[in-house]
Amino acid sequence: MFSASKLEFFEHFDNQHLALSYDDVRLQTCANKYNLLDKIDTESSFSRNVSLKAPLVSAAMDTVTESEMAISMAKMGGLGIIHAALPVDTQRKEVRRVKKSINELIEDPVSVKTSSTLAEVQKLIEDKRYSFTTFPVLNNEGNFVGMLGGDDFKYPDSLEISVEDAMTDITEVISADPETSTEEAYRIMQSNKKSTLPLVKDGKVSGLYLFSDVSRTVRESEKYNVDSNGQLFVGAAISTYDERNPDSFYERAEALSKYTDVIVIDTADGDSYYAFDTLKRLKEFRQTSDNNFDIVVGNISNGPSARELANEGADGIKVGQGPGSICTTRRETGIGMPQVSAVAGCVRSMFNNHVNDAIPVCADGGITQYGDIPIAIASGANSVMMGGMFAGTNESPGEITVDPDGNKHKIYRGMGSASALRDNEASRKRYESNADKIVLAEGVEKTIAYKGSVVSVADLCMQALTKGMRYTKSPNITTLQSEVELIRITNAGMRESLPHDV
Ligand code: IMP
Repeated sequence: MFSASKLEFFEHFDNQHLALSYDDVRLQTCANKYNLLDKIDTESSFSRNVSLKAPLVSAAMDTVTESEMAISMAKMGGLGIIHAALPVDTQRKEVRRVKKSINELIEDPVSVKTSSTLAEVQKLIEDKRYSFTTFPVLNNEGNFVGMLGGDDFKYPDSLEISVEDAMTDITEVISADPETSTEEAYRIMQSNKKSTLPLVKDGKVSGLYLFSDVSRTVRESEKYNVDSNGQLFVGAAISTYDERNPDSFYERAEALSKYTDVIVIDTADGDSYYAFDTLKRLKEFRQTSDNNFDIVVGNISNGPSARELANEGADGIKVGQGPGSICTTRRETGIGMPQVSAVAGCVRSMFNNHVNDAIPVCADGGITQYGDIPIAIASGANSVMMGGMFAGTNESPGEITVDPDGNKHKIYRGMGSASALRDNEASRKRYESNADKIVLAEGVEKTIAYKGSVVSVADLCMQALTKGMRYTKSPNITTLQSEVELIRITNAGMRESLPHDV
């Protein structure tokens, strides 16, 4: 929760019915209370059970997050939310792709027969140009009986001996269940000092792990945002339940639930009857499902709504109505709360009303400068979701176009823009738009400069965050959230904050 003086800051503006956004505030520096020469800890969470090593989340938009973006985000310690404007099977495949992306499992490995000779296997390797020399060995019934490895070719008396005589017999081989994850495989191979781990059930081999592959992945994955099985965390968006088409909601929930760590109920009006109803239905569905997943609801911008959603069992909330860079909701509908006050209001409301277990808050939209990231977190957010920041990268969906001057661009569009409403059922649901009428779009489409890989963009975001944490002497996200003071600045102060008079 906020420190007393931070609370007073927000209450002061609340009492005047005045709301603040990123450009209205800066963070106050302070003397060094902690030894910050050691690592700054940026661990946080997106929802109750989905942790983050970097509090960055890519938006559920059709020009921002599909599997490629989500893989890169999770590998950088963050998270991607696969957008819902995809046919259900495609969205399921995209989510699965992320989940399986650091799986070092060799599925259906090439096997050899006991009766073959080493010479025959050698010829097979040459003919097929295999780059490996490790094979599960099967008997005539197709059952696993041993392993043949590179060393078995090194010192045989003759290459004419049979595989059966050269192989390591099943009695000396360690095998594991077909469901074994990369992390578990690493542990098993390391503790048994084995370089291979065949996955065997009822005598049949379904997969193979090699220690060389697995140990490399485990080493590299230190900074990855992974679940307890060592697989990348991934989220997916779902539209609100539609009474006119109940089956499609459950079909999608079912499809996503198998591989998704968190399902985000994606609506522009996250405290509507439909949002609460969808939360209830999804929770009921989860109880009947073999797979556990978190449920995050968004978007809202009002404190009491956060409290209600937390009380109804949401595992996280997403805050932001109208701050998005491609958003025209505030202009077209007159609603909306500037983002610093919206985030702080939701956080305060949850604590004020004794929601014992305050749920994580994601500040969604309106981050245009890197410095807005530490400000969002100092306003109480556990994570920030960004669309415009990550759009226009290699990993965002869409073509790169080149203009006559040779400049490269990509399209970034609001999910409530006219073209997205035309193209996507999910967009029409998010903005409750009727395809039969001329639509009141709530977003725009624009071309943005091509930025290269999202890895460098996200790295700059993290540099900004950790520098902000250093200046404010915050060793971790909790300190930045609860203790670091905000100061209200004037227009003159903001002008001074930007490059000027040069
Ligand atoms: P950005 O990071 O400022 O570009 O904002 C991205 C966020 O804007 C998304 O995560 C959504 O919450 C929101 N958003 C996406 N499409 C629209 C739209 O068409 N209208 C309003 N908000 C949108």
